[in-house]
Amino acid sequence: MTILVTGGLGFIGSHTVVDLIEQGNSCIIIDNLSKSTIDVVARIEEVVQKKITFIQVEMLEQKALRDVFTTYNISSVIHFAGYKSVSESIKKPLLYYQNNLISTLNLLEVMNEFNVKKLVFSSSATVYGDFNQPPMKETYTLQAPNPYGRTKLILEEILCDFATTNNDWSIALMRYFNPIGAHKSGLLGELPFGVPNNLMPHVLKAASSETNKLQVFGGDYDTEDGSCIRDFIHIMDLANGHVKALNYIEKNLGCEAFNLGTGIGYSVLNLIHTFEKVTGEKIPYEIVDRREGDIVVSVADVKKAETILEWKAKYRLEDMCKDSWRWYQAIKEYTV
Ligand code: WQD
Repeated sequence: MTILVTGGLGFIGSHTVVDLIEQGNSCIIIDNLSKSTIDVVARIEEVVQKKITFIQVEMLEQKALRDVFTTYNISSVIHFAGYKSVSESIKKPLLYYQNNLISTLNLLEVMNEFNVKKLVFSSSATVYGDFNQPPMKETYTLQAPNPYGRTKLILEEILCDFATTNNDWSIALMRYFNPIGAHKSGLLGELPFGVPNNLMPHVLKAASSETNKLQVFGGDYDTEDGSCIRDFIHIMDLANGHVKALNYIEKNLGCEAFNLGTGIGYSVLNLIHTFEKVTGEKIPYEIVDRREGDIVVSVADVKKAETILEWKAKYRLEDMCKDSWRWYQAIKEYTV
């Protein structure tokens, strides 16, 4: 089986490629290098100890995509390629709709042309919006609170419509909660592109005193310590969830959504204190105003993935903090 991994040099894509190869699969990676760097190829090869096939492809150009399917005998696709910053999507909605929607529509058309009918799609817990009662279940009504989330919601609907009409397709929609951590080798992790949105990159900067203080957005929420609660999941658990989803679509038709989380919620302050405990680093922080659009509690109901995919997250918050810190120390001189 040759699996095409789009966006395979990104944070989630690169870790998934490692797991796929270590499970005996062969992969073709495509990436347009807009949010990743070419040296991730060598880093993946170092981890898996074998050469990998990477082609720089702009998925907005359908011909370039078609050339990949002409050249390689692809059996299934894991589609990560897409922009994922909530704040950037609010500033540049058109960029997000064009990039995320057109690249996926191009992929669907070319897959269909080449009779490749198995797809794992990178979605997000953002599609649960801010009105659902946690833990979030896949059957919940969906509503996305920002352009980034809306691209994921619209694409989920497109993919399910497509699978309804073309009933010989198998599609898995993977809804990620809060992926953090890094490969234990310290060779792979989340690259610090631009001003990070997410919590962990800011924790890492505060721990290495690159910023004065970490800003905690809100300390007056109706939670135990007043800070928001999230379902942080180790990137290696998230990667393995995709391998299990691939196994599932090998044997099942239709379009199914799966939550990838731990089912355990930790607050922002929990994460900060856990990080300090496992690394011995002090995180200077200050509690500031709430961030627009934040939901109070985002935790996954993970029963569906556990039973149907036979997948369960195994890493703890301590592992996520330790592995993140190892990666960050390894790439401190890294400039992107
Ligand atoms: C987590 C918590 C912040 C930064 C987003 C996307 C989601 C997914 C993951 C793509 C919140 C708080 C953060 C900081 C803070 N991405 N925080 N200080 O918003 O849960 O989810 O990223 O799929 O789709 O919506 O993640 O890491 O930005 O925030 O206090 O400097 O940390 O307020 O409570 P979020 P996050």
